[in-house]
Amino acid sequence: MSAGIKLVAKPGEVEFPKGMEGMISRESTKSFVNGAEGFLCYNGIPIQQLAENSTFEEVCYLLMYDALPKETELAAFNQRLLQYREIPDFTYETIYGMPAYTTHPMAALRTAVSTLSLFDESSEEDTPSALERAGINLIAKLPTIVAAVARSRQGLEPVHPRADMPLATNFLYMYTGEEPSPLYAKVMDIILLLHADHGCNASTFTAIAATSSLSDMYSSVVAGICSLKGPLHGGANERVMRMLNEIGTVDNAEPYILNAIARKKKIMGFGHRVYKAYDPRAAILHGYAKDVTRQAGTEKWLQMAEIIERVMIDKLGKKGIYPNVDFFSGTVMASMGIDPSLFTPIFAMGRVPGWVSHILEQRADNRIYRPRFIYTGPMDVDYVPMDER
Ligand code: ACO
Repeated sequence: MSAGIKLVAKPGEVEFPKGMEGMISRESTKSFVNGAEGFLCYNGIPIQQLAENSTFEEVCYLLMYDALPKETELAAFNQRLLQYREIPDFTYETIYGMPAYTTHPMAALRTAVSTLSLFDESSEEDTPSALERAGINLIAKLPTIVAAVARSRQGLEPVHPRADMPLATNFLYMYTGEEPSPLYAKVMDIILLLHADHGCNASTFTAIAATSSLSDMYSSVVAGICSLKGPLHGGANERVMRMLNEIGTVDNAEPYILNAIARKKKIMGFGHRVYKAYDPRAAILHGYAKDVTRQAGTEKWLQMAEIIERVMIDKLGKKGIYPNVDFFSGTVMASMGIDPSLFTPIFAMGRVPGWVSHILEQRADNRIYRPRFIYTGPMDVDYVPMDER
């Protein structure tokens, strides 16, 4: 604690960045966001290059081991992911035992992921190799859980994972029961890849804070899921789609947004703590949205999204408010026939390698997270017995 910081203060007396804006929590090699220039890289490689040339599995390796894999290394890593895809019977039973109509898929995901640790005999083993294995287990199993959650909500039997498809393709197969088109398989891979890591965001910070007490990999990832669930973070994509449905028609898009801006309403899928320029992930997904909406016959949603984007940038661009990744991911996934309530769980599938990599990085040089509050409550107060209050 630097000298001169007052630990007890009257409200407003001590300055500190609300929401920990701009504060540094530690050093990291994983990803870098330049918000002023709309730039994102994983381990130095620009996100555009990864989206064009890489795969989700390769990006998982890159984030975990800080280097692109050689062919044999990627094959061995993929083999581990394939081997871990199936989830325990107890996890299926837990998912299918949940009340289908009242359980939000993120609540289902949080609960189901917790059960995984019960079936990993080394889940409490505090060694780098046990943590790494648990991390790979989580990356491999989240898609199976999300697909089972989706099917249970529709009253359908689960479709078990196959070992002959990449992770994103297999997820769509488990969700629908059919092999997806090459375009949809590619776009799902891109969506996961684009969500894989993003600096010290709220859920990553939460996961790191959890592991800093030497809590296990499963608990720390569940902590990340809990933080991601909120509408100011991962929950925004679902609300983007709700907004498009509420707007209903292309003609209504401009008046709806102008009215929302006039009422100072926050538009989901816009704005970012770090980006004050166009989120590069949104730009990549905008490109794919054109192909997907054309194939799906949902061009109307893209037209609406483009009108909203134009009006928002026109009115609020000077304040640094641009579309974020959630804006176009919602349009793309809904066009692929994915239920909007699954958008955030799919975000979690994509983000889990980021959480895992940061947890491993934290554990390699750990110190417990223990910031302080500026105390603004009263001092020197005597306890008052119940009958004298
Ligand atoms: N629509 C309209 N105005 C906005 C929006 C928005 N989406 N976002 C920010 N603003 C305005 C605020 O009203 C505020 O204006 P003011 O200075 O006149 O009061 C100013 O911009 C700053 O906004 P804050 O909320 O203070 O910015 P903060 O950095 O705390 O929040 C956040 C960032 C949470 C992402 C915010 O922009 C937001 O709520 N966006 C909508 C939700 C969303 O899309 N979340 C996804 C984020 S990306 C991700 O997690 C993948």
